[in-house]
Amino acid sequence: MSAIRIAVLISGSGSNMAAIADHLSERSDVEIGIVVSDRHDVAGLLRAEERGLPTTVVDWKSFPDRETFTAAVCDVVDASRCTFMVLAGFMRILAPTAVERFPGRILNIHPSLLPSFPGAHAVEEALAHGVRVTGVTIHVVDELVDNGPIVAQESVDVFPDDDAASLHARIQTVEHRLYPQVVADFVIGGSEQR
Ligand code: GAR
Repeated sequence: MSAIRIAVLISGSGSNMAAIADHLSERSDVEIGIVVSDRHDVAGLLRAEERGLPTTVVDWKSFPDRETFTAAVCDVVDASRCTFMVLAGFMRILAPTAVERFPGRILNIHPSLLPSFPGAHAVEEALAHGVRVTGVTIHVVDELVDNGPIVAQESVDVFPDDDAASLHARIQTVEHRLYPQVVADFVIGGSEQR
Protein backbone atom coordinates (compact mmCIF):
# COMPACT_ATOMS: atom_id res chain seq x y z
CA MET A 1 0.00 0.00 0.00
CA SER A 2 1.34 3.45 -0.84
CA ALA A 3 2.11 5.90 1.94
CA ILE A 4 -0.44 8.50 2.98
CA ARG A 5 0.92 11.89 1.99
CA ILE A 6 0.70 14.91 4.27
CA ALA A 7 1.48 18.58 3.68
CA VAL A 8 3.26 20.40 6.50
CA LEU A 9 2.69 24.17 6.68
CA ILE A 10 5.28 26.38 8.39
CA SER A 11 6.05 30.05 9.04
CA GLY A 12 9.07 29.87 11.33
CA SER A 13 12.03 27.80 12.38
CA GLY A 14 10.32 24.57 11.37
CA SER A 15 11.46 22.57 14.38
CA ASN A 16 8.12 20.73 14.58
CA MET A 17 8.25 19.99 10.85
CA ALA A 18 11.77 18.60 11.35
CA ALA A 19 10.63 16.41 14.26
CA ILE A 20 7.74 15.07 12.15
CA ALA A 21 10.04 14.47 9.17
CA ASP A 22 12.59 12.63 11.31
CA HIS A 23 9.88 10.43 12.82
CA LEU A 24 8.29 9.64 9.46
CA SER A 25 11.64 8.80 7.90
CA GLU A 26 11.59 5.72 10.15
CA ARG A 27 8.29 4.46 8.79
CA SER A 28 6.73 3.72 5.41
CA ASP A 29 3.00 4.34 5.96
CA VAL A 30 2.98 8.17 6.13
CA GLU A 31 5.21 10.62 4.28
CA ILE A 32 5.59 14.37 3.85
CA GLY A 33 4.58 15.22 0.29
CA ILE A 34 5.25 18.94 0.51
CA VAL A 35 6.39 21.58 2.99
CA VAL A 36 4.55 24.87 2.42
CA SER A 37 5.59 28.22 3.86
CA ASP A 38 3.75 31.52 3.74
CA ARG A 39 6.81 33.62 2.78
CA HIS A 40 10.29 33.19 1.38
CA ASP A 41 12.46 34.10 4.39
CA VAL A 42 11.36 31.17 6.52
CA ALA A 43 14.20 29.31 8.25
CA GLY A 44 12.25 26.05 8.22
CA LEU A 45 12.48 25.88 4.42
CA LEU A 46 16.22 25.20 4.70
CA ARG A 47 15.59 22.52 7.31
CA ALA A 48 13.14 20.85 4.92
CA GLU A 49 15.53 21.04 1.99
CA GLU A 50 18.32 19.54 4.14
CA ARG A 51 16.01 16.55 4.63
CA GLY A 52 15.35 16.25 0.90
CA LEU A 53 11.73 17.32 1.24
CA PRO A 54 9.96 19.20 -1.55
CA THR A 55 9.13 22.77 -0.55
CA THR A 56 7.06 25.58 -1.94
CA VAL A 57 6.25 29.13 -0.93
CA VAL A 58 2.72 30.50 -1.15
CA ASP A 59 3.60 34.10 -0.43
CA TRP A 60 0.64 35.50 1.48
CA LYS A 61 1.60 39.06 0.50
CA SER A 62 0.93 38.38 -3.15
CA PHE A 63 -2.76 37.57 -2.57
CA PRO A 64 -5.49 40.19 -2.24
CA ASP A 65 -7.34 38.42 0.58
CA ARG A 66 -7.51 35.39 2.87
CA GLU A 67 -9.81 33.49 0.51
CA THR A 68 -7.50 33.57 -2.51
CA PHE A 69 -4.46 32.79 -0.32
CA THR A 70 -6.30 29.81 1.19
CA ALA A 71 -7.36 28.54 -2.23
CA ALA A 72 -3.74 28.69 -3.42
CA VAL A 73 -2.53 26.77 -0.35
CA CYS A 74 -5.21 24.10 -0.82
CA ASP A 75 -4.38 23.83 -4.55
CA VAL A 76 -0.70 23.22 -3.73
CA VAL A 77 -1.64 20.54 -1.20
CA ASP A 78 -3.95 18.86 -3.73
CA ALA A 79 -1.39 19.08 -6.52
CA SER A 80 1.13 17.36 -4.23
CA ARG A 81 -1.36 14.49 -3.77
CA CYS A 82 -1.52 15.16 -0.04
CA THR A 83 -4.73 14.32 1.80
CA PHE A 84 -3.93 15.85 5.20
CA MET A 85 -2.64 19.28 6.24
CA VAL A 86 -0.44 19.60 9.31
CA LEU A 87 0.00 23.15 10.60
CA ALA A 88 3.37 23.36 12.36
CA GLY A 89 3.89 26.92 13.50
CA PHE A 90 1.89 28.22 10.53
CA MET A 91 0.96 31.75 11.57
CA ARG A 92 -1.68 32.59 8.91
CA ILE A 93 -5.37 32.03 9.49
CA LEU A 94 -6.85 29.98 6.68
CA ALA A 95 -10.34 30.81 5.39
CA PRO A 96 -13.14 28.33 6.22
CA THR A 97 -12.89 26.99 2.65
CA ALA A 98 -9.79 25.06 3.77
CA VAL A 99 -11.95 23.11 6.24
CA GLU A 100 -14.53 22.51 3.49
CA ARG A 101 -11.84 21.09 1.20
CA PHE A 102 -10.07 19.06 3.92
CA PRO A 103 -12.85 18.31 6.42
CA GLY A 104 -11.46 16.84 9.62
CA ARG A 105 -8.09 16.49 7.92
CA ILE A 106 -6.22 19.58 9.17
CA LEU A 107 -4.25 19.39 12.42
CA ASN A 108 -2.74 22.30 14.36
CA ILE A 109 -0.36 22.51 17.30
CA HIS A 110 -0.66 25.32 19.81
CA PRO A 111 1.69 26.22 22.71
CA SER A 112 -0.91 26.37 25.51
CA LEU A 113 -3.64 24.27 27.04
CA LEU A 114 -6.52 25.41 24.84
CA PRO A 115 -9.03 26.92 25.31
CA SER A 116 -6.65 29.06 27.41
CA PHE A 117 -4.50 31.53 25.49
CA PRO A 118 -5.50 31.14 21.84
CA GLY A 119 -3.77 33.37 19.29
CA ALA A 120 -0.22 34.25 18.36
CA HIS A 121 1.18 35.08 21.83
CA ALA A 122 0.17 32.08 23.92
CA VAL A 123 3.45 31.70 25.79
CA GLU A 124 3.76 35.38 26.70
CA GLU A 125 0.11 35.54 27.78
CA ALA A 126 0.42 32.45 29.99
CA LEU A 127 3.40 34.09 31.75
CA ALA A 128 1.60 37.42 32.08
CA HIS A 129 -1.38 35.70 33.73
CA GLY A 130 0.89 33.92 36.20
CA VAL A 131 -0.40 30.45 35.44
CA ARG A 132 1.53 27.66 37.14
CA VAL A 133 0.80 25.15 34.41
CA THR A 134 0.52 25.61 30.66
CA GLY A 135 1.20 23.11 27.90
CA VAL A 136 0.69 21.89 24.38
CA THR A 137 -2.53 21.25 22.48
CA ILE A 138 -2.97 19.41 19.21
CA HIS A 139 -6.39 19.86 17.68
CA VAL A 140 -8.38 19.41 14.50
CA VAL A 141 -8.85 22.72 12.72
CA ASP A 142 -12.41 23.98 12.33
CA GLU A 143 -13.80 27.29 11.05
CA LEU A 144 -12.68 29.21 14.16
CA VAL A 145 -9.15 30.03 15.30
CA ASP A 146 -7.49 27.61 17.80
CA ASN A 147 -10.87 26.05 18.42
CA GLY A 148 -11.44 22.60 16.93
CA PRO A 149 -11.73 19.23 18.70
CA ILE A 150 -8.71 18.43 20.86
CA VAL A 151 -6.75 15.34 19.84
CA ALA A 152 -3.96 15.51 22.43
CA GLN A 153 -2.79 17.71 25.28
CA GLU A 154 0.16 17.64 27.62
CA SER A 155 0.91 19.97 30.50
CA VAL A 156 4.15 21.88 31.09
CA ASP A 157 4.99 23.43 34.47
CA VAL A 158 5.78 27.15 34.59
CA PHE A 159 8.73 27.93 36.88
CA PRO A 160 9.02 31.20 38.87
CA ASP A 161 12.13 32.28 36.98
CA ASP A 162 10.78 31.45 33.51
CA ASP A 163 10.83 33.99 30.73
CA ALA A 164 9.09 33.46 27.39
CA ALA A 165 12.19 31.90 25.84
CA SER A 166 12.83 29.37 28.61
CA LEU A 167 9.16 28.40 28.84
CA HIS A 168 8.76 28.10 25.09
CA ALA A 169 11.87 25.93 24.91
CA ARG A 170 10.37 23.53 27.46
CA ILE A 171 7.05 23.55 25.60
CA GLN A 172 8.84 22.78 22.35
CA THR A 173 10.56 19.75 23.87
CA VAL A 174 7.08 18.36 24.51
CA GLU A 175 5.85 19.41 21.06
CA HIS A 176 8.68 17.61 19.30
CA ARG A 177 7.92 14.37 21.14
CA LEU A 178 4.12 14.60 20.93
CA TYR A 179 3.31 16.00 17.47
CA PRO A 180 5.05 13.39 15.28
CA GLN A 181 3.31 10.48 17.02
CA VAL A 182 -0.08 12.20 17.10
CA VAL A 183 0.19 13.17 13.42
CA ALA A 184 1.01 9.59 12.41
CA ASP A 185 -1.75 8.05 14.57
CA PHE A 186 -4.32 10.61 13.41
CA VAL A 187 -3.53 10.21 9.74
CA ILE A 188 -3.57 6.42 9.89
CA GLY A 189 -6.79 6.43 11.94
CA GLY A 190 -8.45 8.99 9.64
CA SER A 191 -7.58 7.07 6.52
CA GLU A 192 -8.95 3.80 7.92
CA GLN A 193 -12.31 5.49 8.51
CA ARG A 194 -12.64 6.66 4.92
C1 GAR B 1 5.45 26.18 18.00
O1 GAR B 1 5.81 26.29 19.35
C2 GAR B 1 3.94 26.15 17.85
O2 GAR B 1 3.29 25.60 18.94
C3 GAR B 1 3.64 27.63 17.72
O3 GAR B 1 4.68 28.14 16.94
C4 GAR B 1 5.87 27.42 17.21
C5 GAR B 1 6.52 27.07 15.88
O4 GAR B 1 7.78 26.55 16.09
N1 GAR B 1 2.37 27.82 17.11
C6 GAR B 1 1.55 28.82 17.42
O5 GAR B 1 1.84 29.68 18.22
C7 GAR B 1 0.23 28.79 16.69
N2 GAR B 1 -0.67 29.75 17.22
P1 GAR B 1 8.56 25.77 14.91
O6 GAR B 1 8.47 26.66 13.66
O7 GAR B 1 9.96 25.66 15.40
O8 GAR B 1 7.89 24.45 14.70
